[in-house]
Amino acid sequence: MVKGLGHVLIGGGTGFIGKALSRILRNRGYNVTVVSRMPGPKRITWHDVQRVGLPQDVTAVVNLAGQNVLDVTRRWTEGFKQNVWNSRIQTTCALAKAITDAKDKPAVFITISGVGIYKPDNHIVYSENVAVSQFDFFSKLCFEWENAAKLPSHVSTRHGSLGGPIAPGDQFLPWIHIDDISRLFVFAIESTNISGVLNGVAPEEISNKEFSACFAKTLFRPALIPVPQAALNMILGEERASMLTTGPRVQPKRTLSLGFKFLYPDIKSACDEIVHTPKVKEL
Ligand SMILES: NC(=O)c1ccc[n+]([C@@H]2O[C@H](COP(=O)([O-])OP(=O)(O)OC[C@H]3O[C@@H](n4cnc5c(N)ncnc54)[C@H](OP(=O)(O)O)[C@@H]3O)[C@@H](O)[C@H]2O)c1
Repeated sequence: MVKGLGHVLIGGGTGFIGKALSRILRNRGYNVTVVSRMPGPKRITWHDVQRVGLPQDVTAVVNLAGQNVLDVTRRWTEGFKQNVWNSRIQTTCALAKAITDAKDKPAVFITISGVGIYKPDNHIVYSENVAVSQFDFFSKLCFEWENAAKLPSHVSTRHGSLGGPIAPGDQFLPWIHIDDISRLFVFAIESTNISGVLNGVAPEEISNKEFSACFAKTLFRPALIPVPQAALNMILGEERASMLTTGPRVQPKRTLSLGFKFLYPDIKSACDEIVHTPKVKEL
């Protein structure tokens, strides 16, 4: 896709990643429309997508919609799990259907999923081409989320996250700087021939303890005492807490081999940037 000539539709574009991505795209000259539950300027609703399909000139579609899993105000009940599930699968299905039905199809459909698709095992380093199996709620969710989007032009980014000190501390913490995950979406939009999975994690593998220590050092503060696992289990529920207390080793092998360049490949550079310039920069 030629820079500055596209119209990108972003499901869940009002969220943390969506705002950062929208800003970068608009600065590059793209027209951006967000799909949201709430109507507003430069927005359409999910109901509009179901009723009238995609806006006419859309050249790329991204889906970032999803109920916040780690919302501590919500108990980990079957009802909430259903919300978490539906908010990802149904929005992805709605966009996939709208793309299938569109007369002029967008060149690319990019969705996000999570590194929860990889079963934590310190002896396995996961890259994009390993076979994945469904072993818990989150791996099933990621699997179905990616499946709901399966179209020839589909790119799925399996995303790492941010975190604080969590016991036991030696669990791996796949992570990525917000600028890099946003740039990875732009990379996928602007590459004409990418489909399949891209791991959206920084190349440096670190543990939860190392991650927290680096932030503490950069901020010149003592590292906080790790949150005990039992407390997290109690607050979040054991199944949900496992997202924080365990973590897989993940490498962005295919992402790198396709030519994506990380601005923050290691935790030191990411911490320095976050502490000193807390804003999304241009590409
Ligand atoms: N941030 C991370 O570290 C991370 C890591 C791995 C994967 N992810 C995934 O990446 C996606 C985007 O992350 P984010 O941090 O930008 O999320 P976020 O800030 O929570 O934003 C997600 C957006 O999804 C929409 N949404 C929320 N609940 C919904 C529901 N029940 N039904 C339909 N839409 C709903 C909201 O948009 P409206 O209110 O406008 O409808 C919201 O702005 C999420 O699916 C998340 O699971 C994020």
